[in-house]
Amino acid sequence: MTGRAGDGREPSVVAAIVSGGGAARTIDCPLPDRGCTLTVHLSGEGRPVLFIHGFPLDHSMWSEQMPLAARFRLIVPDLRGFGHSGAGEGIRSIEQLADDLAALLGAIGEDRPVVVCGLSMGGYVAEHLVVRHRRLVSGLVLVDTRMEADNDAARAGRAALSERVAVEGASAACEMVPRLLATSRAALPEGRATAAMLEARIRDTKPDTIRRALAALAARPDMTDALSRLDLPALAIIGEEDSITPREAMERITRTIAGSRLVVVPRSGHMTPLENPEVFNRELAAFVEGLGPA
Ligand code: MLT
Repeated sequence: MTGRAGDGREPSVVAAIVSGGGAARTIDCPLPDRGCTLTVHLSGEGRPVLFIHGFPLDHSMWSEQMPLAARFRLIVPDLRGFGHSGAGEGIRSIEQLADDLAALLGAIGEDRPVVVCGLSMGGYVAEHLVVRHRRLVSGLVLVDTRMEADNDAARAGRAALSERVAVEGASAACEMVPRLLATSRAALPEGRATAAMLEARIRDTKPDTIRRALAALAARPDMTDALSRLDLPALAIIGEEDSITPREAMERITRTIAGSRLVVVPRSGHMTPLENPEVFNRELAAFVEGLGPA
């Protein structure tokens, strides 16, 4: 293991471990054209899968997907400003976050098209990535997310939360944790452990990142038309008890992207990959393997 570097122009290894899933590395990857350094976790071999985290979390929300490194190359970044990634000029838009990831794929030397898997905010970023950089993407997995822009009530809710974060700090955003998780698991020890982990992640997030991300989320465009023109394999996954993303929003996705289908995962809320990794990983792996060799 090496110390955290990342101020130079070359990707620098922050940590390296060798486990049953093969060598895993954490890299600080400078993106000079984007004006920031992203931290990315790389493991496994095979068809590349890029995982994009939700708001206001980081790469660690994909911890239960790490065993998939036995079958695929996993590329798991922290988005600009989140986790250990630098903020550069700060978050300005969802499009900017998508362009950051396109640059990151080049910087780590991934020249094969990747399967992009994004949850909620990560799903919005995934939609922009595939629309803006179609040749970089071989398949799209949208998890607990939607295509539509915010309505006025959603924008007002984000503005109110942003004000609270400005005054109280990141912990104000912990109010969303109970809504992230399935009510059927809330009282169980594993449900409480997941909630505590999410709260810790949120408290570690910089208030400026949370507030800028809220503004970018509120300003994001409707992607329905753009997604209706897509021609690529796509899968939609939602937790059966998701109380943030309406099931109908994901059904609209599958009606919009030709050939896509919806999987409903039991005993899961909005954090399906964490709450029911067994079913989530099985569905994701079947989709990725269905695309054939990379
Ligand atoms: C997320 O989980 O990323 C957020 O719920 C996204 C959103 O607020 O739209």
